[in-house]
Amino acid sequence: MKIAHISDIHCNYGTDFNEKIFDKAASMVNKVDPDLVFISGDLTTDGLLSEYELAKEKLKNIKGKVMIVPGNHDERNLGWKLFPEFFGDTDFIQTYDDIVLVGLGSSEPDKDDGRLGRGRHIKIEEGIKKKKMTVLGFHHHVVPVPNSGRETNIIEDAGETLDIILKNEVPLVLMGHRHVPWAVKIHKTLLVNAGTFSCNRTRAHFGNTFNIIDIDENKIEISVVNIRKEKEMKMIEFNISNGCCTNKYYD
Ligand SMILES: [Fe+2]
Repeated sequence: MKIAHISDIHCNYGTDFNEKIFDKAASMVNKVDPDLVFISGDLTTDGLLSEYELAKEKLKNIKGKVMIVPGNHDERNLGWKLFPEFFGDTDFIQTYDDIVLVGLGSSEPDKDDGRLGRGRHIKIEEGIKKKKMTVLGFHHHVVPVPNSGRETNIIEDAGETLDIILKNEVPLVLMGHRHVPWAVKIHKTLLVNAGTFSCNRTRAHFGNTFNIIDIDENKIEISVVNIRKEKEMKMIEFNISNGCCTNKYYD
C-alpha cells in the first residue's frame, strides 16, 4: 500500500501560500498514484472562509482518496466550525485494505497547542481492536522534531498518548505542524512528520516537501520528495518483523 502524506498546505491570500508550488506538488502526488492521500492539517493559515474555499478548490487537483485532519491554523477565527462543513469529520476510523487509519483532531480553537484527550485515546484503542495494521494521523507532534526551532506545541498529553502507542506497538504515526520532514523509531513504532507542502515558511534548506509511505506486511519505507528539486530521497526504512531501522535522511 502506498500513502502520500501531505501537511501544512496553508492556503491563504497573504504571503503564506505558494500556489505555484502547490500546483506542481499536486501533479507530482498524482504521478505517484498513491492508494491514499493523508493530509495532517493546516490547510489554511487563519481558518477564514475564503481560505477554506481556496483549500477546497485546490484539493480538487489531487486525485484519489483523500483523508484530512485539522491543524491549529484551521481552528482559528471559528475555523473549527468550517472544517466539518468543508472536509467532514475531524476524527475518524477508516479501513483500507490491510490498514486501519485513525485520524484525530489534535487542535483547540484559537490555540497553537495540541491535545488529544481521553475521548481520542479511546478512539485509538478502538482502531487497534480492528486487528489490522494501525496507522494514526494527527497534526501536532508527540516528541520534539530536530531542526524545527525551539520546542513548542507538543501535544499536552504526549506521555499518555505515547504510552498507548508504544504499549500496543502501533507501527506508524503520521504528524505535521513543524514544517520539517522527520522520522524516528521508538520501540516498535515509527513516528513520522511531513514537512510543509506549499507554505512559504520553510526552514533553512528543507524546502517544500511531502512524504511517500510504502507499506507491506513486514516493512515500512518513508521517502521525502523535495518539490522544487523534484528529488525523492529515502528517509527511513523500518523492518517490522525484526525491528531493524535505518535512517539516512540526515546523514
Ligand atoms: Fe500547525
